[in-house]
Amino acid sequence: MRVHVADHPLVTHKLTVLRDVRTSSSTFRSLVSELVTLLAYEATRDVRIEPVDITTPVAPTRGVQIASPRPLVVPILRAGLGMLDGMTSLLPTAEVGFLGMVRNEETLQPTTYANRLPDDLSGRQVYVLDPMLATGGSMLAAIRYLFDRGARDVTAVCLLGAPEGVALLEEALDGREVTVVLGALDERLNEKGYIVPGLGDAGDRLYGTAGS
Ligand code: PRP
Ligand code: URA
Repeated sequence: MRVHVADHPLVTHKLTVLRDVRTSSSTFRSLVSELVTLLAYEATRDVRIEPVDITTPVAPTRGVQIASPRPLVVPILRAGLGMLDGMTSLLPTAEVGFLGMVRNEETLQPTTYANRLPDDLSGRQVYVLDPMLATGGSMLAAIRYLFDRGARDVTAVCLLGAPEGVALLEEALDGREVTVVLGALDERLNEKGYIVPGLGDAGDRLYGTAGS
């Protein structure tokens, strides 16, 4: 498994505003989109391409296009939905599927409550979007599900990660073709499974409290 932690002053600056408890939901949503676009640049470094012949106004030439089958982008609902526009603005030809997962705040175990994905993902490159990699339980379940359906390689794009979550994925997905791209790797999890210093509950900060 490859882990890439962004090292760019614009990412760190935007994450600082995102973390700030005073930041409003509307600013938070805009910043999430901007950050994803910056992270998507690194996340798509190995996107598969194929040659294509075109003609410019001056001469014929050979360029590249995104290869077939098209990449699949999978936001994990709810919070991952806030990352979708930022990702598809960079990969407009990608197909989009959805996984709905929620973490039990007592046991920290994830359950899947929605799934709208192609049954057969043979040979597909998949980009999974979730702002928070905390215990790693939700992301691990999502990635396992995608590989079980034939995905060829999976890239997880997260704004913040905890060392505990990265370690879980590394141990459980050893030997799999997985890349994790993080905006920042934070210090640790607290006793409630929240990332420290983190940004709080990403879904609530994007969309307000739901059922809590
Ligand atoms: C958050 C977050 C991840 C998960 C991370 O979602 O968006 O999906 O928790 O935690 P983990 O790494 O310990 O599994 P949450 O379950 O709060 O649902 P939401 O997106 O609907 O708010
Ligand atoms: N989910 C969140 O939204 N935030 C955390 O810090 C951990 C899990």
